[in-house]
Amino acid sequence: MTEPVRFYDRKDETAIIREWDSIAPIRDRQVASHQDASYERVLEPWILGRVDRSTAHSIVDVGCGTGRLTSKLRLRADETVGIDPSAVSIRLARAHDDATRFDIATAEDWVRCDSEARFDLAVANMVLMDALDLDGIVGALATLARGGGVLATIAHPAFWPIYWDYAGSDGFSYLDETVVETPFRTSSKSYGLVATHVHRPIETYLSSFNRHGLVVTAFEELRGPESIEKFPYPRFIGIEASVLP
Ligand SMILES: C[S@@+](CC[C@H](N)C(=O)[O-])C[C@H]1O[C@@H](n2cnc3c(N)ncnc32)[C@H](O)[C@@H]1O
Repeated sequence: MTEPVRFYDRKDETAIIREWDSIAPIRDRQVASHQDASYERVLEPWILGRVDRSTAHSIVDVGCGTGRLTSKLRLRADETVGIDPSAVSIRLARAHDDATRFDIATAEDWVRCDSEARFDLAVANMVLMDALDLDGIVGALATLARGGGVLATIAHPAFWPIYWDYAGSDGFSYLDETVVETPFRTSSKSYGLVATHVHRPIETYLSSFNRHGLVVTAFEELRGPESIEKFPYPRFIGIEASVLP
C-alpha cells in the first residue's frame, strides 16, 4: 500500500526535529555505505567542487545532519563548525568525527548566542527547504557569512513534486508555501517514519536571498543520478551567493 503525502499549513518545529532524530541513524548508514546516490554523485560533488575552487579558510555547515559532509569540509579549511538542531544527528556526527566542532542548534539560535561569529563560507546542503522559517535561516546564513559566501543546494521546487508524485494532489499548488509530509523510505524498505519539507516556489527563495543581501553568483539546476528515461527533469538546485558585508 502506498502511504499518503500530507499537506499542512503549519507544523511544530519540535515535531520536525524529532522526525530528523528518528531518520538520522538510517540516513547516516545510507551515506556511509554509499547507498545514497543523489548525495554521493550529485550533491556532495557539487558542494566540494565549489569549495575546492574557493579560498575559504573557515566554513560553517548549517543543517549538517550527521556530519558526513562536514568532516570532508574540515579537511579543506582551518576552522569548521557543524550546526544542527537534531541531537541524534549531532551525536552520530561526534561519534565518527571527534576533530570537528558540532553544535546542537538551529542556525537562527546559534547566531543569537554568538552574533560575533563569522565564517568565510556557509554551506547548507539540502537544508533550506527543510527549515520552517526561510527568512530566519537565510538571515542566519547572511550573518554567519557576512562579506563571504554561501553554497546551498535545495530540492528543485518545480520538479520535486512531480518526482514524488504529489504535483497533482488536492491541497498542493505550486505558488503556495505548503508544509509537505512524506513517508520516509529507501528503495528497499519502508520504516513507518515520515520526513517533512516545506514546498516554496523558486521566487520565494530568491526574494529571501535578496532581502538578506545574498547576491546569487551561480544558479545550477542539477539532475538526479537516475537515467533521463526514468526522470528527465532536474531534481535539485545548487546556488552560490556572495554575501554583502
Ligand atoms: C536533508 S537533512 C541534510 C543534512 C546534511 N546537510 C546532509 O547533507 O546530509 C536537513 C537537515 O536540516 C536540519 N535543519 C532544519 N532546520 C534547520 C535550521 N533552522 N537550522 C539548522 N539546521 C536545520 C535538519 O535537522 C536536518 O538535519
